[in-house]
Amino acid sequence: MKEIQQKWWHKSVIYQIYPRSFYDSNGDGIGDINGIILKLDYLKKLGIDVIWLSPVYESPNIDNGYDISDYYSILSDFGTMNDMNELLIESHKRGIRIIMDLVVNHTSDQHKWFIEAKKSKDNPYRDYYIWRDPVNNKEPNELKSNFGGSAWSFDEETHQYYLHFYSKQQPDLNWENENMRNSIWNMMNFWIDKGISGFRMDVIDLIGKKPDEYIKENGPKLHSYLHEMYKNTFGDKDLLTVGETWGATTENAKLYSDPKREELNMVFQFEHMQLDKIPGKQRWDLKKLELRELKQVLSKWQYALDKEGWNSLFWNNHDLPRIVSRWGNDREYRIESAKMLATLLHGMKGTPYIYQGEEIGMTNAAFNSIDDYIDIETQNIYKERIAAGFSEEEIMKAFYMKARDNARTPMQWSDEIHAGFSKGNPWMKLNPNYPFINVENALNDPDSIFYYYQSLITMRKNNDTLVYGTYRLLDPEDESIYAYERDLGGKKLLIVCNFYEDPTTFYYPSSCNLKAKILISNYSDSSLDIKTIKLRAYEAIIYEINYKQ
Ligand code: NOJ
Repeated sequence: MKEIQQKWWHKSVIYQIYPRSFYDSNGDGIGDINGIILKLDYLKKLGIDVIWLSPVYESPNIDNGYDISDYYSILSDFGTMNDMNELLIESHKRGIRIIMDLVVNHTSDQHKWFIEAKKSKDNPYRDYYIWRDPVNNKEPNELKSNFGGSAWSFDEETHQYYLHFYSKQQPDLNWENENMRNSIWNMMNFWIDKGISGFRMDVIDLIGKKPDEYIKENGPKLHSYLHEMYKNTFGDKDLLTVGETWGATTENAKLYSDPKREELNMVFQFEHMQLDKIPGKQRWDLKKLELRELKQVLSKWQYALDKEGWNSLFWNNHDLPRIVSRWGNDREYRIESAKMLATLLHGMKGTPYIYQGEEIGMTNAAFNSIDDYIDIETQNIYKERIAAGFSEEEIMKAFYMKARDNARTPMQWSDEIHAGFSKGNPWMKLNPNYPFINVENALNDPDSIFYYYQSLITMRKNNDTLVYGTYRLLDPEDESIYAYERDLGGKKLLIVCNFYEDPTTFYYPSSCNLKAKILISNYSDSSLDIKTIKLRAYEAIIYEINYKQ
């Protein structure tokens, strides 16, 4: 049997911070780096090993920092480079590493490269971006931006179109240009030298694009660019690298994450996160999740990357709605369902990611008015859908479920004014449920979601079966139970989750005489008889199984 080489990030749990909404230390209504420093002890208590810091670089904030105008400086809203150095020192003191967001598919249109590039067709930076002549006085082709509308914008000065897969203020970089790639390697090495522990790579599967052939993801040179990046930057360091890849399949995930190929450690794949939309349509075209499909997709990934490559495990990030509102029950079973979803995910093989607020069961914001949504994507899609004849009601319903702002409301620290997030006016409306869903309440309640996450994290540190055990799905056809085993050299874990509210029973298909111990459960009196496990609403249990002689 092929054994994988053990790495520190196999055993780590990562916590994503969206800095604008995390904690505001200076009362300007915007979360900042000092605010993160002040909350490091909270994160230490939770037990996480690594922070993934969403962008803190200089940016005009058209897309909340995913439009970078200077990779080498910190946006003043967030603080200074000294604050950043301090954050590294203070987190390292607590044994916490920091990985940075690397946004190199595009820059801001305010980046000096683009400002130069626009000056003339023969400017040395022109070719850092992707330009095409008009065709019949129009866009060169029909390529669409992910934020709605054409992917091409016209530059009046030089009479050419430039490509942008996101807003027109986020021009795409031209990865064919070697100088451009070298500029990126230099920038990455600057951050590595500062002591960061790796990168989360924004939409990295787009860098090999071929716009004339309508190829966005998985372009022909994608993997050679990543190998070149590896060789020129982090290859000889022990860092964590994770690519955001909406177009990943199990086959190409191995290309990215097989250590022999020298590219990345793992990717975020999104196949499971797209099961509640109508296939082939946009995520606003809603469809109910089928548990059997979720089991099939997640299991496919578990099987495929068991011996080659590595999975990342997540339900949430700053682009996705809150999982407890999406696939749990954010009303009467908020606590049970949040814990069930955590059990299901953290029981699997891979590196788990927690998004800020998930550990206290924060819910979707579901604002009533389009004016309360700040996100450029939501605003653009609203206009596009109204123009296409969708009803206001239909559009808003999709936003309640899927808008990115659901995940971006300020972190709920306490029941004080503005949820204790800021002493000033928060940059974004709070979720009105903060008086009862907040960190302070969670820390005062031994049964809280927070302490459940804490236990799951501790368990991963002390249980190699949880880290390296092989996964096997049980009962794929069952419509309401997600059950699977993990096995490492005969040591077995059984994970059983009732995904819904209605009670049900799980029959463990084993003929052996078994003795089981409960490692964790979201009910205090779960069944010890593992042959017939009666499950209440959203009940979830991890058993350690011993085979009696
Ligand atoms: C993915 C990021 O997660 C998202 O927030 C951003 O809008 C796009 N990439 C463009 O950078």
